[in-house]
Amino acid sequence: MRSWRKIAVVATASLLLGSLAGCAQERTNDAGSNGGSDSNLIGISMPTRSLERWNNDGAHLKEVLEKDGFKTSLQFADDKVDQQITQLQNMINEGAKILVVASIDGEALGPTLQTAADEGVKVIAYDRLINGTENVDYYATFDNELVGTLQGQFIEEKLGLKDGQKGPFNIEMFAGSPDDNNAKFFFKGAYDVLKPYLDSGVLVSPSGKVPADVDGWTNVGIQGWKTDSAQAEMETRLNTFYKGGTKVDVVLSPNDSLALGIEQALEGSGYAPGAEWPIITGQDGDKANVKNMLADKQSMTVWKDTRTLGDQVAKMVREITDGKEVTVNDTDTYNNGKKTVPSFLLPPQVVVKDEVQKTLIDSGYLKASDVGL
Ligand code: BGC
Repeated sequence: MRSWRKIAVVATASLLLGSLAGCAQERTNDAGSNGGSDSNLIGISMPTRSLERWNNDGAHLKEVLEKDGFKTSLQFADDKVDQQITQLQNMINEGAKILVVASIDGEALGPTLQTAADEGVKVIAYDRLINGTENVDYYATFDNELVGTLQGQFIEEKLGLKDGQKGPFNIEMFAGSPDDNNAKFFFKGAYDVLKPYLDSGVLVSPSGKVPADVDGWTNVGIQGWKTDSAQAEMETRLNTFYKGGTKVDVVLSPNDSLALGIEQALEGSGYAPGAEWPIITGQDGDKANVKNMLADKQSMTVWKDTRTLGDQVAKMVREITDGKEVTVNDTDTYNNGKKTVPSFLLPPQVVVKDEVQKTLIDSGYLKASDVGL
């Protein structure tokens, strides 16, 4: 038996004896059974350093787990699937007892996680679901479909679509990376709100880049969530379909990294903040985008306080290692093709320009100086 399992059994036994108090502090550092060195090690695998949020996610999770007495191995995979697999394999070899994984490609980790399961390592999917394997034990995320719904409802409200006024409005739609399981949830949430207006012709897309149904979302997806690729795609659309004075009224962008590229493309083709600048959605509350919100170049961001996600995952880790029942609040939504993964969903929240100070800065998520305030 791997030594962490022994610890879990001991923890359960102490629960029975009514002496659970303090067991988190009593975790030992004895060696793992697979040539690894540390049964108290938690592997944290993040997709990339190139996007702000994953740096924050990784740093926060490492901090809370270390405060709880765990050791951590925090790795970033440069958005390369092979690199993430190698890093996970190394964590398993080092004797990690739990892997917390924000996957790059939700389909690509099956064989690695089989090795983890064979070694008795538990796996928590972090923010992004891992598909096609039995060997993902828990999932912690924000309500991904609600993120998209909030973006769709924001557009609906800003354009007064429900009131049946005006239009038609020119919309350009983007979706996230086709290999990220979250991206389809984001798109679905927004698309379901906007579809009736596309059908009635109140929303029209000069580029024609609107999927006929929600399953076509990958056709407007941006691989790797890359800012540069979103910028290039928006430039192509503007140069090809917006000649002769036609203006974009609204852009559905699933997140901030894409929104940034879209905003650069608009500026490059002569749009100025103010009346002609389109409504643009986002997600994450990245510094550059919050600055753009303050400069009237982005209309909103859906903020996910990633500190709460880290706290929730740290709680799961403690519950697993203490042999307790793991707290989840959704056992229906996230089927990965092999099982429905017990999940904990946190609430996302819309932030607009006037709420930046109160929501993002007063809460300590960003510093005023980060966004030029
Ligand atoms: C996350 C988003 C993030 C995107 C790009 C998604 O899986 O949920 O918060 O913007 O990846 O990194």
